[in-house]
Amino acid sequence: MENNNVLGDLHLTVRELSNVYEELSLLYKLSELFSTLNVNEICENLVNEAVATVGVKTAAVLFLNGGNQTLYTRACKGNWDKNRIVDGGTEFIADVLEQGKPMAFCKFEEVAPEDYFPGLKSVLLCPLAGKGKTIGLMILADKSSENEFYSNDVKLLRVISTQAAMAIENAFLYQEIEDLLLGTIKSFVKALETTTQWTAGHTERVTIYALGIAEEIGLDEKQIERLRICSLLHDIGKIAIPRDILNKKEPLEYEEWMEIGRHPLVGATILSGLRAFDDILDGIKYHHEHWDGKGLFGLKGKDIPLMSRILAVADAFDAMTSDRPYRARKNIDETLKEILELSGKQFDPSVVEAFYSWINRQHRAFLP
Ligand SMILES: [Fe+2]
Repeated sequence: MENNNVLGDLHLTVRELSNVYEELSLLYKLSELFSTLNVNEICENLVNEAVATVGVKTAAVLFLNGGNQTLYTRACKGNWDKNRIVDGGTEFIADVLEQGKPMAFCKFEEVAPEDYFPGLKSVLLCPLAGKGKTIGLMILADKSSENEFYSNDVKLLRVISTQAAMAIENAFLYQEIEDLLLGTIKSFVKALETTTQWTAGHTERVTIYALGIAEEIGLDEKQIERLRICSLLHDIGKIAIPRDILNKKEPLEYEEWMEIGRHPLVGATILSGLRAFDDILDGIKYHHEHWDGKGLFGLKGKDIPLMSRILAVADAFDAMTSDRPYRARKNIDETLKEILELSGKQFDPSVVEAFYSWINRQHRAFLP
């Protein structure tokens, strides 16, 4: 009898331990799945993980629309329209959002208004609540095995949703900080451009051309984002160049060119104390290098960072197609011809080729 009791206790302990182990494994897996800062990726992973873990045919992640009471579909799988918008004021949806607790409905058609979620029988709703606020909710429907949700399903979904909500909140926060940074950079650049009339809009155009080249070369999303920031800041060092040189109406003297030539290094030095710009400093510092090694620092070929090689072409194209106090702008054909002639000398031939095909492919109609 006593032995049986001991065995029973042991069984219970093993089962509890095994549950704890599964939960920990799930948490570990989730921390991997949600370790990205891309909200779309987090939502896709959330849907896939919920479908696999709880064993349902349909899952959807809905986000609350800022300011009003509707929820829109951010990711989904199974019997769910990706354009579906849900009224957050509907009683059971409002309850889940307000109380912050999951709710399961085994016979959903009995509680929902007619045709609310057409075709769904059993439904499990779970709020997506971050530390700060409720982001939206998760809907699971139609279990693969039976028509009922159990407390373990609710528990699992809650664990998954909580982890995802925190990851989404972090990603939003990161995005806000990035936007703030980008906004600040743009203000700096505007401040710089307003002091020299002829450079108005230069940075913005160079950024468009540089990103066009990047798209043509096939850089990934992250590289493109860094290139965007590098392009916006590439001439920030001109802040330190005397205005009378930058605004001079006559052709520049050798010493004045030398003075202007300091701006890549000055720009990189100004930004060198800020960790957010660590990986673009060289892009800025070497944006006036020449492919053949005859540039400011004498760097040659692929020793010049790719960002700088892209900026060199984008920058030259904009400079040539813009009016200067001492010369009129060239037309696009003349400019392209000149850039092609300088391919392999001043510019990286593969970047020139990418720029040429980008312009000719679709963007030429919008250029100055
Ligand atoms: Fe420059």
